[in-house]
Amino acid sequence: MKELIKDLQKQALSFKIDSREDLEAFRMKFLVKKGMLNDLFSKFRELDGQAKKEFGGPLNDLKQKVQSIYDDKSAELLSNEAAAGPVYDDSLPGLPLDAGSRHPISIVLNQMIDVFMKMGFSISEGPEVEDDWHNFTALNFPENHPARDMQDTFFIDEDFSLRTHTSSVQVRVMESEDPPIRTISPGRVYRNEAISARSNSFFHQIEGLYIDKGVSFADLKQTLYLFVQEFFGEGTKVRFRPSYFPFTEPSAEMDIYLGVTTEEDRRLTKGSGWLEILGCGMVDENVLRNNDIDPETYSGFAFGMGVERITLFKYGVKDLRIFFENDIRFLRQFQGEE
Ligand code: PHE
Repeated sequence: MKELIKDLQKQALSFKIDSREDLEAFRMKFLVKKGMLNDLFSKFRELDGQAKKEFGGPLNDLKQKVQSIYDDKSAELLSNEAAAGPVYDDSLPGLPLDAGSRHPISIVLNQMIDVFMKMGFSISEGPEVEDDWHNFTALNFPENHPARDMQDTFFIDEDFSLRTHTSSVQVRVMESEDPPIRTISPGRVYRNEAISARSNSFFHQIEGLYIDKGVSFADLKQTLYLFVQEFFGEGTKVRFRPSYFPFTEPSAEMDIYLGVTTEEDRRLTKGSGWLEILGCGMVDENVLRNNDIDPETYSGFAFGMGVERITLFKYGVKDLRIFFENDIRFLRQFQGEE
């Protein structure tokens, strides 16, 4: 018996365990019901009383030793595996990827940009935190103009505010480029207004600026007319109404005709069928002079349109606040749209 115990211990100690397979082989050899350890116990049970007394202790020690070899190796393998990182199974099917979607404002903005790019406009950008010169003064706002009033503008300090329109980018472009200039400036603007279904304290605009020799109001009308035909569909009617902006002279606002057939159109146009989408005009001579462009040689037009209103119309959305709530159920509906 003594020899058998010794021999089994030797075998267990010298068993090479480098992998889970080895570990399992070890278990099969020594620890299962029909394994060597149990074999030895069966033999032990056949011994007489005296021999049982003699070998009971050593045999139990052996059993514990073999079990702890198994336990230690098992723990060691586990920690090695953890250190080596996760095991990848290339044959498993992938987890479904929840693809995001573009925001409806971005979709419409991109479509508008596309139309102007086709007409040869470049894209320019400016900062959202803007100084008084770029947002107001260079644009010919008189010192006490109501648009500078606290009601409309979020002031940051005496010199800086959040831009109230993308017209500030007109100034930045004129500063850094010589005519001919043909550019659009999409971006976010801020106004200190009460939030409602139709207005928000921030929204998006696309500014347009075209300066060259001999640019006329007819060019402005034709450019905007072309845009409307491309964007809203051929045959879409437009009208220009005289208006006022400090930085354009003459100034106008442009409406597109949606009609009054659907409830939606009536609501959006307040019953008139016409939806105002932009302000525009010929760049005021003072603005050109403020930016060192000679009004004797050059003339130009500018326009600025709101993106939210057009998006409301395009998707039949009733309240623009939903654009900024980031409700996933709303945003998901635009999956797959560019
Ligand atoms: N900046 C004007 C606005 O925000 C729009 C505009 C742009 C008007 C360019 C004329 C020319 O209302």
